[in-house]
Amino acid sequence: MRFVNADVVIIGGGGAGLRAAIAAAEADPSLHVALVSKIYPMRSHTVAAEGGAAGVASENDSLENHFRDTVSGGDWLCDQDAVDLFVKEAPGVLRELEHWGCPWSRQADGRVAVRPFGGMKIERTWYAADKSGFHILHTLFQTSLKYDAIHRYDEYYVVDLLVADGRCMGCVAIELKTGETVVFAAPSVVMATGGAGRAFPFTTNAGTNTGDGIAMAYRAGVPLKDMEFVQYHPTGLPGKGILITEGARGEGGILVNRDGYRYLQDYNLGPPDPWPRKKAMELGPRDRLSQAFWHEQQKGRTVDHPAGQVVLLDVRHLGEKKINERLPFVRELARIYAAVDPVHEPIPVRPVVHYTMGGIDTDIDAASPVTGLYAAGECACVSINGANRLGSNSLTELLVFGRIAGHNAATARAEHPDEASARELAETAMSRVQRLLDTDPGEESVAGLRDELNGYMEECAGIYRDQERLDQACEGIAGLRERYGKLGLTDKSCVFNTELAYALELGSMLEIGEALVHAARMRRESRGAHQRLDFTERNDDEFLVHSMASFRGDGPPEITRKPVTITRWEPAERVYGGTSDD
Ligand code: FUM
Repeated sequence: MRFVNADVVIIGGGGAGLRAAIAAAEADPSLHVALVSKIYPMRSHTVAAEGGAAGVASENDSLENHFRDTVSGGDWLCDQDAVDLFVKEAPGVLRELEHWGCPWSRQADGRVAVRPFGGMKIERTWYAADKSGFHILHTLFQTSLKYDAIHRYDEYYVVDLLVADGRCMGCVAIELKTGETVVFAAPSVVMATGGAGRAFPFTTNAGTNTGDGIAMAYRAGVPLKDMEFVQYHPTGLPGKGILITEGARGEGGILVNRDGYRYLQDYNLGPPDPWPRKKAMELGPRDRLSQAFWHEQQKGRTVDHPAGQVVLLDVRHLGEKKINERLPFVRELARIYAAVDPVHEPIPVRPVVHYTMGGIDTDIDAASPVTGLYAAGECACVSINGANRLGSNSLTELLVFGRIAGHNAATARAEHPDEASARELAETAMSRVQRLLDTDPGEESVAGLRDELNGYMEECAGIYRDQERLDQACEGIAGLRERYGKLGLTDKSCVFNTELAYALELGSMLEIGEALVHAARMRRESRGAHQRLDFTERNDDEFLVHSMASFRGDGPPEITRKPVTITRWEPAERVYGGTSDD
């Protein structure tokens, strides 16, 4: 067992992790900041983000507009102190990224260009064509190379946090190349491991987005907040799940059904919008657009496609020049993965699981209830997204809260953990791995259990839910967790044992999936992305609360409630457009 004595451990090398590492190194260049990631940072899922990052950019916009769009988009489940901080910090972190070399697209006069995104009063999404995540990740990675304080541990799979008496003292990992166990001891740990979209079968998420960090924090005693809120992005490629960015609609793309009809005009996506659109239509919020697809499908108005039912995203009227300039990646993806050239044909699309809006309970200091444990980015729930995240808020979120988490982790000045205690906790944590390796393969397989989990998530916890199906999922996933306890592995080797990594990832997804369906069963109302066919209205009297799922070992989670922080805007009808003093 190797021992690394660090000052700050950051788990996850994507956008949030890199931003946290830079902040920690800037706070104190003498620190040992261990950046531990199960993949090379440049392969992190941030690279797949396309459309852009939100932040007030012009005098026509205001922080108040951004605040209100975010809070109403989140159906009032956002913590308003967190949203206020977020919108205030947003323009600065985006400008800072530009100073570090991020090639934001420009207007003709040289100012940064912004495009409209769903649920926004005015365009405020900064973009780098439609490869924004790629450029952001490159910029952060290259900037991180400047700091001697940052020590990278690439391709280390973190198994568990080391927590005793409510204090986090590091984590234990497996070096994938050798199979060696490595204990990272530190007084501060930042979790930045991204979302858990892979619990669902059809997702934009990378294969690595299995919610490991969310599950680790959960097992370590941090409640998971609002796990029932899962974002379906309205436009994924059928069969593949690859994202076709909202930027395509921001640039003017339209959605039509099998009759060539712009069906969104038939749905309530918010009252008529005085600026600049007559109705929100394609730039309505993601939850409502995905729900509209479901209704079109029920009415038999979707289009048959070899990979299932779809609608059509038409950008032909934008013309080849604009498509090549603003949406080159959309064109490339549609050609390769859907065999259509959007310059000449519409793109087949359907809703696809995209974002985990719940996660590790954190406050505006990015701190979790476990002392010394911070979290940022998609794995965290701070919560600025509430019941429905606005597109392009998440890239900004990982910059704002990644920076806060890294800074606070570096300046907390807690005592270094004692080596003997850290090693002892690590040995206990590794018994889970040893059990998997010691058990011979039987009837259960990783792929078989994962398929069954995927089935429960899509069938019972998809765009629309009800009591009967949620009961089925709660019972079914409990059964899968029991069977997981008997799982054995064929591969007993040390070197890049991917079967072991997949088995551990499956364990995380089963725990998270169970928390999600229990939280969804508790929430007997419809709010944002959580829509119940049996409780169709938002019910603020009973459910203007965060759900909190606490881990209880082999049994089901305990679901409790936590008040939502409402500082200055009382719940109202969701409004798209209008002015800030509506
Ligand atoms: O459509 C998109 O480009 C996605 C952006 C986001 O999820 O923020």
